[in-house]
Amino acid sequence: MMVSYRLYWTLWILSCFGQYLGQDLQIPAPPNKEEGDSVVFTPDNPPDSTSIFLTQWFFGTSAIITVASGVPTVNPEYEGRASFDSSTLALTLQKLRHSDSGIYRLTLQITAGGSLTGETSLQVEKLSVNLTGPEEPLIEGESSANITSKGNGIITSVQWMKDNSPLSPSNSIIFSPDNRSVSISPVQRSDSGEYQCTYTNPFNSETATYSLIINYGPEGVSIKGQDVVDLGVRVSLSCSANSVPSASFRWMFNGTDTGVTTDTFTIDKTDFTHSGDYDCTAWNNVTNRSATQRHALLVKVGGGGGGGLTTGAIAGIVIGVLVAVSGICGLIVYLIKTKKMERKGKWAFAGDSLAETSGAALSSCLDAGSSSHLDMAWIWHVAANLGINLVDATLLMM
Ligand SMILES: *[C@@H]1O[C@H](CO)[C@@H](O)[C@H](O)[C@H]1NC(C)=O
Ligand SMILES: *[C@@H]1O[C@H](CO)[C@@H](O)[C@H](O)[C@H]1NC(C)=O
Ligand SMILES: *[C@@H]1O[C@H](CO)[C@@H](O)[C@H](O)[C@H]1NC(C)=O
Ligand SMILES: *[C@@H]1O[C@H](CO)[C@@H](O)[C@H](O)[C@H]1NC(C)=O
Ligand SMILES: *[C@@H]1O[C@H](CO)[C@@H](O)[C@H](O)[C@H]1NC(C)=O
Ligand SMILES: *[C@@H]1O[C@H](CO)[C@@H](O)[C@H](O)[C@H]1NC(C)=O
Repeated sequence: MMVSYRLYWTLWILSCFGQYLGQDLQIPAPPNKEEGDSVVFTPDNPPDSTSIFLTQWFFGTSAIITVASGVPTVNPEYEGRASFDSSTLALTLQKLRHSDSGIYRLTLQITAGGSLTGETSLQVEKLSVNLTGPEEPLIEGESSANITSKGNGIITSVQWMKDNSPLSPSNSIIFSPDNRSVSISPVQRSDSGEYQCTYTNPFNSETATYSLIINYGPEGVSIKGQDVVDLGVRVSLSCSANSVPSASFRWMFNGTDTGVTTDTFTIDKTDFTHSGDYDCTAWNNVTNRSATQRHALLVKVGGGGGGGLTTGAIAGIVIGVLVAVSGICGLIVYLIKTKKMERKGKWAFAGDSLAETSGAALSSCLDAGSSSHLDMAWIWHVAANLGINLVDATLLMM
């Protein structure tokens, strides 16, 4: 019913107003707009304005402007940003926003009766901002970085933050005159972080982020592990370095590559051949820099347990051992002598001699031995070994 009604009226209009024959209103679609822009919708083929008694521009179903008998009325929602040209029937909209996207329709009521209508569409891009930054890896102290924002629309402000705090200009951080880009030169490790740029227009704001990574190092290479270890134990030397990206490691022993490329060098069971210099070289594959640290390892009998003996303690141990050995020696001599009932001389170890120095005790033991039937060769052997071991131990501990 609606359709036939319209058709009737169209036919009626066509017959009465030949000059508009077959023509609805043609309104070219404007190119895409950005927020803050303005747009003018102009019909290509406006009828003579004197033949129109009612003009209406619609957005969807709501009237933007109504012109009755030459008097325009603007919908309050469009107050201040919609205007109308009565000679061209053009509608101008200013300060466009994304929500203005849609279908616009012009409707004319003709004095003689009937109506004309035309439609067009508008697309207003949403406010957006994108950040672009350096594509090459950045190296501390060498590289410079430009972070550039691109966006659309009429921007009223551009603001930069780094890790959620306002970014301020400095000797090395320079903003472009329009604040749309930031130049950092040279970059430092403290420039690493997330940069945020916010574009604001009267209706919206949009933020884009960009992560900057500053590569540096390796520095402060250090090796953790023992210096002196016992025979037959497990030893781990652990290498670390301050580096972005993380360093990779190589271990050398006495100047020879070990093939170990982990941060930890492990010896499962130490033997004397493991004593020597361990070099850990840390390498950063972006900065292409490396740094080396050396660690000396000594494998020895009794190593690892008491690293911190004082000289006094060592002397005490030496004397104690001498006294003990002298005592054993004296006991052996005594047993042999008492057994053979050959008590010559007046030596008596249990009494005074124990209080004497260990050297005197040993010599009196030897004296006694020489006057007995003891195997002198054996005593000398024990004494010599004892002396060598004691001297050895003393030197190593010092
Ligand atoms: C950064 O921008 C400045 C000026 O805007 C320019 O001189 C410099 O070459 C740029 N640096 C890089 C790394 O693009
Ligand atoms: C920003 O980037 C997005 C996705 O990469 C793209 O769709 C958009 O058009 C860009 N905007 C501008 C203003 O360049
Ligand atoms: C740039 O930003 C600074 C603050 O970060 C502001 O003081 C200055 O007015 C801005 N300049 C422009 C052109 O927006
Ligand atoms: C490694 O070097 C140390 C010190 O120069 C040396 O005492 C040790 O014998 C060397 N070890 C090997 C297996 O070359
Ligand atoms: C550095 O090494 C890492 C892995 O260790 C690798 O993913 C990266 O691509 C390397 N970078 C360069 C520049 O060689
Ligand atoms: C890294 O350094 C080595 C020697 O210092 C050099 O031979 C090599 O070409 C460098 N590699 C890069 C990618 O700069």
